[in-house]
Amino acid sequence: MSSRRRRKVIAGNWKMNMTPGAAKELITDIYSKVKGKKGCDVVVCVPYVDIPTVAQVVKGTIIKVGAQNVHFADKGAYTGEISASMLKECGVQYVIIGHSERRQYFGETDETVNLRTKAALDAGLTAIVCVGELLSERESGITAEVVSRQTKLALQNVPAEQMANVIIAYEPVWAIGTGKTATNEEADEVCGIIRSVVSQKYGKQVGKQLIVQYGGSMNAKNAAGLLAMENIDGGLIGGASLKAEDFNVIVEAAQ
Ligand code: PGA
Repeated sequence: MSSRRRRKVIAGNWKMNMTPGAAKELITDIYSKVKGKKGCDVVVCVPYVDIPTVAQVVKGTIIKVGAQNVHFADKGAYTGEISASMLKECGVQYVIIGHSERRQYFGETDETVNLRTKAALDAGLTAIVCVGELLSERESGITAEVVSRQTKLALQNVPAEQMANVIIAYEPVWAIGTGKTATNEEADEVCGIIRSVVSQKYGKQVGKQLIVQYGGSMNAKNAAGLLAMENIDGGLIGGASLKAEDFNVIVEAAQ
């Protein structure tokens, strides 16, 4: 099967931006631009408090709503946390797990990434699991090792039947929010490594069908080149997803 059989998924990661009022304006603007573009899946991963507003605006459209994290318990004494069933009831279909900012600033580990991934999948959410190397790791030549390890640990005890609901986002940490992008070839190579890790664990067919996104300063200018690569099936987009016009250009590049 060629990559052409895999759908592309363009996901915006709004991070900690947009109050509900601002979110309503932005999502309305994004919808007016991307409507009718059915050639890829479009997701916006928004702050929890924006979910109801955004879900209402995109209801019945091609845009799907995502969250930026999920707790692994379904309910209980976990002050400040949000469970998968809460997200589901609010209309969320996707959730980012293990973003490098969560690993760096909030103590997220490979183990908690795995727990969150399993909770999300058990609830029927699609998990966008983030992996990626630090600059020092790339410079020491251990990118493949780091990314393979993160991928394997994130997927521990995830059964093959749930892999259709897993997306892996390759996000080199040095490229996030820095304006530095991996070259098309660098990004494609690592996305290919991730695909082969999944193929080794689950078999070739699952590997071939796996959606692997690239993230890290993807923008209106570089998206087409990255998205044309064999192993890159979409993007996880931070900064450029906050500008409706730029996000729309990226969605167009994925058609
Ligand atoms: P960026 O963020 O596009 O602003 O680099 C990507 C991400 O962190 O998901």
